[in-house]
Amino acid sequence: MYDLKEALEFAEINTLEVFILGGGSNLLFLKDFPGLIIQINISGIEIIEDTDTYSVYKVGAGENWDLFVEEMVGRGLSGLENLSFIPGTIGGAAVQNIGAYGQEISSIIESVNVFDRVKGGEVKIEKKDLVYGYRDSIFKHNTDRYIVLSVIFNLPKEFVPNLSYSDLKYMQDFKVITSAIVRKNVGEIRAKKFPDLNTTGTAGSFFMNPIVEATVAQDMQSKYPDIPCYDVAPTQKKLSAAYILDKICNLKGYGEGFVQLYQNQPLVVTNIEFNAIGSEISSFIAKVKDTVFQKTGIKLESEVITI
Ligand code: EPU
Repeated sequence: MYDLKEALEFAEINTLEVFILGGGSNLLFLKDFPGLIIQINISGIEIIEDTDTYSVYKVGAGENWDLFVEEMVGRGLSGLENLSFIPGTIGGAAVQNIGAYGQEISSIIESVNVFDRVKGGEVKIEKKDLVYGYRDSIFKHNTDRYIVLSVIFNLPKEFVPNLSYSDLKYMQDFKVITSAIVRKNVGEIRAKKFPDLNTTGTAGSFFMNPIVEATVAQDMQSKYPDIPCYDVAPTQKKLSAAYILDKICNLKGYGEGFVQLYQNQPLVVTNIEFNAIGSEISSFIAKVKDTVFQKTGIKLESEVITI
């Protein structure tokens, strides 16, 4: 934390804007950042409480998310297996409230230790105050204030498989099921849906599933009866952006130059062999959003942070 304080002081003295970087897996740089980028490298996986039913771990914000998942699954703990193979760091995962296959990281987070730039010191934020929502948290609205230092996880020892998500349902027939088996299968599913990161640039799902008024969802469902629609609040519903791009706008696999909506999952914007430049990607994104708006009246929002 001393290094972090020193870096922040340096930025203040030199009136530099600060950007906090985790693993960079959910970012798109369109230009150089005119300020100081601080990459969080805080390490450490520490067990701080161990009972018959659960273990509590404190994990440094710079630790790799999936190496942590692998280690916890290896120790027979559960609650993270559906979130296997997501790229990024612990800090980024906590900010973003990463989610996949019916699980969100917020369900296993107990609290988060942050550096509070307003108070000038370390503060613990309890789960109830983290205001977690779909890909949302207090951190997304206070980027100038909080820097995640470490995350406290409460991981159950009893394995209760979460196989309700459509892609995972086939595992309900397995005679033996463990968190390690779920992790392995999630890896196989993801390999089919995501491109090879060694040859293709991607930040995962580029667009969020839109949250709309229930009346808008009803209208969409009357036109497209099989559009996936999830409850968010009594008057709000979440619609599937992948369905809209694929089935309504026919944009799955659509590409321009080296930029494409991936043929196996249209939310994934790909930069083929890393050949496209930032401006090509951003005009492609704008065009996709415009097509969706013209066709449905829905404004897609980006999950990826663009700089
Ligand atoms: N669909 C299509 N065509 C497709 C793919 C999907 O019509 O080509 C429809 C299907 O009806 C399908 C539905 O869209 O049932 C949902 O698709 P999927 O299960 O692939 O999930 P998603 O909502 O598109 C979200 C997350 C992913 C996460 C998956 C799996 C967001 C923005 N994306 O995608 O997260 O891996 O669920 O749980 O919430 C990420 O955030 O980077 C990310 C990859």
